[in-house]
Amino acid sequence: MGVKLGILGLGTVGTGTVQLIQDHAGRHPLLQDVEIYRVGVRSLDKTRAVNLPESVLTTDLKAIVTDPQVDIVVEVIGGLEPARSLILKAIEHGKHVVTANKAVISRFGDEIFTAANKAGVYVMLEAAVGGGIPVIQPLKQSLSVNRIHAVTGIVNGTTNYILTRMQTEGSSFDDVLADAQRLGYAEADPTADVDGLDAADKISILASLAFAGRIKLQDVYCEGIRQVSKTDIAYADKLGFVIKLLAIAKQNSLPPSPHPPISPSSSPLSVRVHPTLVPKAHPLASINGVYNAILVEGEPIRQVMFFGPGAGAGPTASAVSSDILHLVATLKSSTATPNPLLTCGHQDYCQIAPIEELVTRFYARFLTKDQPGVIGKLGTCFGKYGVSLESVVQTGFQGELAEIVVVTHDVREGDFRQALAEIRTLEAVDSIPSLLRVL
Ligand code: HSE
Repeated sequence: MGVKLGILGLGTVGTGTVQLIQDHAGRHPLLQDVEIYRVGVRSLDKTRAVNLPESVLTTDLKAIVTDPQVDIVVEVIGGLEPARSLILKAIEHGKHVVTANKAVISRFGDEIFTAANKAGVYVMLEAAVGGGIPVIQPLKQSLSVNRIHAVTGIVNGTTNYILTRMQTEGSSFDDVLADAQRLGYAEADPTADVDGLDAADKISILASLAFAGRIKLQDVYCEGIRQVSKTDIAYADKLGFVIKLLAIAKQNSLPPSPHPPISPSSSPLSVRVHPTLVPKAHPLASINGVYNAILVEGEPIRQVMFFGPGAGAGPTASAVSSDILHLVATLKSSTATPNPLLTCGHQDYCQIAPIEELVTRFYARFLTKDQPGVIGKLGTCFGKYGVSLESVVQTGFQGELAEIVVVTHDVREGDFRQALAEIRTLEAVDSIPSLLRVL
């Protein structure tokens, strides 16, 4: 007998998933055991890109998640509500769940996985991060014997597309965003993408898997790309970097003296999203356009990078369907004990360090009066707070003002910001238009 799916939503991802399951020739034979039993839609009148019997479509989504016949609920409606409530209701009724919903999982993962564990059902989310790129199951299963040190990703295609075009065309953020919206690469309301919120959802999920604990989304530091200017992209290029929006989850480095080391036993994580100068030789530097990539570093694997399409109907349907297949295989096997490689058994929250404790290199651009001794004054302020400079360049002017760019060695962010606060008070300093972290 077939395993019955109740699919919530027939938008881009839902349609792609139905198409993939219906067109099963040449794919895994278990797909033939999947029955598309119910599909919940907002309106029955719309013309659809898939052929489904009328009896399968319904506008009553609640009836799907409570239907005793349904084995697996596939939530692909997106957004917070009613997605969260429907997932919880499905779990309450003993359904396994497949979801592509990073926003719900990053905010309500605790509630959802606690309910799922209690009900003895699985919640699968391969499509929630990286679209078609398999990264959730690799972290949960294939890489789970490693001690993970860092997960660093380009996990938002829209911002990577915008930054790539700014880099190759020398265009401004506003111009590329407007064009990306016209071409359909960016949403009419681009906030979630360009302000880094979508990437923050995704890195909180990856961090939870990599570091075996729950993550509070509000602890994830988040900066978007609106302030990245073509001037900075050009300077970064001259200095040997490209600017990427990185989502990073990492075991924090110990701060340099004179600050006391963070207790290794508490070993807090740094989980953050921000535009970053990436050395051109780094594997993430060459990920361009709408593509996503996730670099996982650990012991003993060292480095492994996942690369591919981070969105789109076909790629996301591939991820959703692989979760469905996992569940079909599990339902068809006879064991009564949950598979620990498919559940989320995290009990505790990870300790996330505040951004001031981050130890990183910085890039900063200053506009100053063109007078003797200005670079010396900057150097004195930096020295006072233990900030060591890797390079200082003064190549241009903006009107009457000299433009000075510095790249630091590793420094505690809190110390660097104190130095900047003092530099801002210098009479010769007009402004600090850019401040970016360097990988
Ligand atoms: N809006 C996302 C992006 C795709 O631009 O990558 C969906 O996660």
